[in-house]
This record gives sequence, C-alpha cells and structure tokens, in this order.
Amino acid sequence: MKTLFDKTTLRGMELKNRVWRSATWMALADEEGGVTNELIRAYEELAEGNVAVIVTGLTSVVKNDAEIGGGVKFYDDRFVEGHRRLTDAVHKHGSKVMMQTAIVDGPVDELTTEQVEDIVRAFGDAASRAERAGYDGVQIHAAHFFYLSKFISPLLNHRTDRYGGTQRDRTRILYEILKDIRSKTSADFLITMKVNSTDEYPGGLTVQDFLVTSKLMADAGIDAIEMSANGTSRMGIKAGKNEGYFRAAAMSLAALVDVPVVLVGGLRSMEKINQFLDETKIAYVSLSRPLIREPHLLKRWQEGDDAPSACVSCNTCYRTPGHQCIFNLRERQNQKL
Ligand SMILES: Cc1cc2nc3c(=O)[nH]c(=O)nc-3n(C[C@H](O)[C@H](O)[C@H](O)COP(=O)(O)O)c2cc1C
Ligand code: SF4
Repeated sequence: MKTLFDKTTLRGMELKNRVWRSATWMALADEEGGVTNELIRAYEELAEGNVAVIVTGLTSVVKNDAEIGGGVKFYDDRFVEGHRRLTDAVHKHGSKVMMQTAIVDGPVDELTTEQVEDIVRAFGDAASRAERAGYDGVQIHAAHFFYLSKFISPLLNHRTDRYGGTQRDRTRILYEILKDIRSKTSADFLITMKVNSTDEYPGGLTVQDFLVTSKLMADAGIDAIEMSANGTSRMGIKAGKNEGYFRAAAMSLAALVDVPVVLVGGLRSMEKINQFLDETKIAYVSLSRPLIREPHLLKRWQEGDDAPSACVSCNTCYRTPGHQCIFNLRERQNQKL
C-alpha cells in the first residue's frame, strides 16, 4: 500500500515522505529581489514541519522581468549568498529544496530566435547558480500563464521558427531549457517542471496538448512533473468532498509516462491523499494553502491528529502581507492586543 509517509528516492536522493510544498510566492523578498530573514524563517518552519520537498515561490531568472511585488530574483551571482543561508536552514531538518525558476511575463511572438535562445540560457545559468547556492534542484515554471506556459499554448504562441508550429515545436523551449540545465549542473541535480494541464480558454492548451508536452519532457529526462492549470487555487474545497481537482489529468499523465507525477490542487485530508496515492500511479502530492494555514500540518498528522487541513480555501492569503493566512494573521494581531 502506498501512503504519504513512504520514503522514496528521486534521482538517487532520499525523500522522507511523499509530500511537497507547492511553489508559493510569499512576497517577502527585499527591494532588489534578495532573500530576507523572514523568508528563510518561513522555509525553515516548513522543513521543521517535515515537508519532504520544498519548492520555493517563483523566482525570476532575467533582470528586466515584470514585477510581482516582493518576488525573488536570481539573475545574478550576487544573489547566491542569501540563498545559501536559505538552503542551509532547510537542510538542517532533512528536507530537500528546489528553486522554482521562472519568467513572470514577456512577449512570445515578437522575440527573435536568438532572443529565445538567450532565455533558454538564462534558465540554465540560474540553475547552475542554484546548485552553487545549495539547492537540490530546480522546478521549471510552465504553468498559470506565467511566461513559459504561454510558449506551450496554441492560443498565445504563433511563432513560425522552430519554437512554434506543432505542440512539439511549442514545447521546444522547455526541452532546450532542460538540456541547458543538465549541461550546467551535476548528475544528481533534480530538474522538475510544473505545467498547465489546460489553459481553460477556448483555443488554448488542452489535456491532449499537455500530454504531448509532458511525454516529450519525460523522454528528454525530466525528473518529475507537477501538473496544474490556469484555475490554480480553486475556492470552496471541502475535505472528503471535492479534493484533488486536477486528479483526472494527473492520472492520464501517470498512465502515459514512467516519470513521477506530482498531484497538486485542493488536497486537504490525509484520508483522501492516501486514497489517491494508493489507487493511482501518482507518486507525490503537493500542497500550498494547507501549509500556509499550518506549516506543521504533516507533523501534526504524523503525531496522530488526523483532522483535515484547517484551510477553508478562501484565497485571502493572495492579498495579505507576506501572503500569510488571514486566520493566523488575526490570531497574531489578537495576541498583541
Ligand atoms: C499565495 C499563493 C502564492 C502562490 N504562488 C505560486 C508560485 O509562485 N508558483 C506556482 O507555481 N504556484 C503558486 N501558487 C499555486 C500553488 O502552488 C498551488 O498550485 C495552488 O494553490 C493549489 O494548491 P492548494 O490547493 O494546495 O493551495 C500560489 C498559491 C498561493 C495561495
Ligand atoms: S487565507 Fe488561510 S484559510 Fe484562506 S486560503 Fe489562505 S491559507 Fe487557506
């Protein structure tokens, strides 16, 4: 029987259970996009809570990217030292940490072929820097209409060079990035991706397109695929009722590839998570909002309190300072009064 507390290995790396922290932009970087003590503390808290793999919030790999407010930037070697403190803090507790490398936004059709090649190299360079900063790997962000997910979308990519045309061509930027990262990092460095399983727009990426893209990436040697969609953080999730809203696409992918598939989106109870793991080929589960609400959720479950996550999926944490849970923020404010 497969359960969330199983130890596994990924690219030879031992993971202490099957739970990942899904990438979560925490809006805690300093003005230049550097790491702050608050950010390090937030990741350390997740590691103390026994999350096996922490994926950082999206981290920008180019200098003149669109701003997201408190977003982390990693386009230059001067950022490495701060990240070294972050990875050391996580590793102290036996968790692994991957940087989610991303570009927030930019044009797709208007770029020259050489400019796309520059983007490919920017992801490779950032991964090399991430390895020097002590990260166990990177996650290429190709979801939620952030920049790379626009390249794989038939709705938004109308290029006529080798980066556009068929779904295979639209995926080319991703497998060139994968190849560039492999050439710039050591053999045990993890390279994963988070990808849209549908754009949820007429004429956009369909589940069929997503399967083509993911199979190509699996064949090219990606280490794990976390699949999401543009309807990223659905509201109204109830434990035991409507958990795991991207499950159908994840199961199709898991049936198609041997690469580990990571299920994200609306997972709230230990019971359902164990059921999804046991009844399917899905290898890992990934949580964001439940771990904003309770960074030590997993530890609580391990210690025998199996009550589901207290997150009510209201999405207020997208708007609070440091993207904290509104309930935690209120509790802290009340304690101060
Ligand atoms: C405040 C906040 C910030 C997020 N930032 C990111 C991000 O940087 N990168 C990403 O891929 N997904 C991001 N997400 C989406 C989550 O990783 C996850 O896919 C989604 O919330 C569904 O999972 P959940 O039900 O466990 O929250 C964010 C979600 C929240 C609530
Ligand atoms: S604010 Fe709190 S309860 Fe609401 S979605 Fe975010 S973590 Fe969950």
